Amino acid sequence: MQRRLMAVLLVLLAWSAVSCGPKINPNEIRIGEYAALTGAEATFGISTDNGIKLAMDEINAVGGINGKTLKLTVYDDQGKPEEAAVVTTKLITQDRVQVVLGEVASSLSLAAAPICQQNKVPMISPSSTNPKVTQVGDYVFRVCFIDPFQGQVMADFAMTHLKAKTAAVFRDQKSDYSMGLADFFVKRFKEKGGTIVTDQSYVAGDVDFKSQLTNIRGLKPDVIFVPGYYGEVGLIAKQARELGIKVALLGGDGWDSSKLYEIGGAALDGCYFSSHYSPDSTDPHVKDFVKKYQAKYGQVPDALATLGYDAMGVLATALKNAKSLSNTDIRDAIAATKAYSGATGSISLDANRDAVKPAVVLKIANNKASYVSTVNP
Ligand code: PHE
Repeated sequence: MQRRLMAVLLVLLAWSAVSCGPKINPNEIRIGEYAALTGAEATFGISTDNGIKLAMDEINAVGGINGKTLKLTVYDDQGKPEEAAVVTTKLITQDRVQVVLGEVASSLSLAAAPICQQNKVPMISPSSTNPKVTQVGDYVFRVCFIDPFQGQVMADFAMTHLKAKTAAVFRDQKSDYSMGLADFFVKRFKEKGGTIVTDQSYVAGDVDFKSQLTNIRGLKPDVIFVPGYYGEVGLIAKQARELGIKVALLGGDGWDSSKLYEIGGAALDGCYFSSHYSPDSTDPHVKDFVKKYQAKYGQVPDALATLGYDAMGVLATALKNAKSLSNTDIRDAIAATKAYSGATGSISLDANRDAVKPAVVLKIANNKASYVSTVNP
């Protein structure tokens, strides 16, 4: 009896879940996006969202994909891994999206990727660079390079360009991105004969970095590698200068935000970071994108806006080429991405579902990052 009651209840529950869901329009392709639109990394999410929407509007303006319009549902994950998991589940079960775009921060992509994988909904991260993200499974992709490469780029730059022989590392111990990138930098720096004089850490949200920086100062490193996000990095740069530390701080793509300069100001002059693209590029494709973005949003696109634009572009091409819009066919079409001509360069996905692309190194002066060099993989 109890069993039968349970069975009836389950059927009712399933029925209500279906009937309460949104009406599915067969002329639309449903795409979900989860992003940090508020919180400590809000510029990451806002820029990415701007880039994604610019690309989507362009595609819909010329008739969509094979007669279907792209429909985007966006949720704010506030930069919190738990929230990323919650909204991704909502995108899949409630909005029934066919593909997911997100996240920027590797720790957040790692929170949501298993949900996409379990539900066989392809996910494309525009900008998460930690290798573990796509290792979650065959439904998880990215359109950016990965941190073993990025760490190597900055270690080589420190040694070759800045002639550094010693380095201090200052990492965010709760961030998968920061921990990974720090490890890859250390590995390369040591392999090439350099010495890591100290490896210090902080946690995102910290505001006082003086004790770690005082330790670092005592060891007189040639450079300090700080693979964090802009909020803490800006404060670290300021406090380093207040303590009389004059050497260059080096970082990775997580520095890329206009907010970095608002926080760090002149303390950042003479510092360097690696990124995915430079708005200084003379490539006609990049120039065209920068112009369109500026016309729509009134600002120069950062790397995240550019990667968001490319993620949607790669997705649109895959949707166009997919044999059908089944989960497996969309997945296979994304996996087959070869030489997609994006604003961040040519994008080909390898067997690990990662993009193999060059990185750029940028130098900061007067609240602005300028192009220094390009490093090919
Ligand atoms: N690569 C960073 C991560 O994995 C995210 C990021 C990319 C931030 C590009 C800024 C610019 O967490």
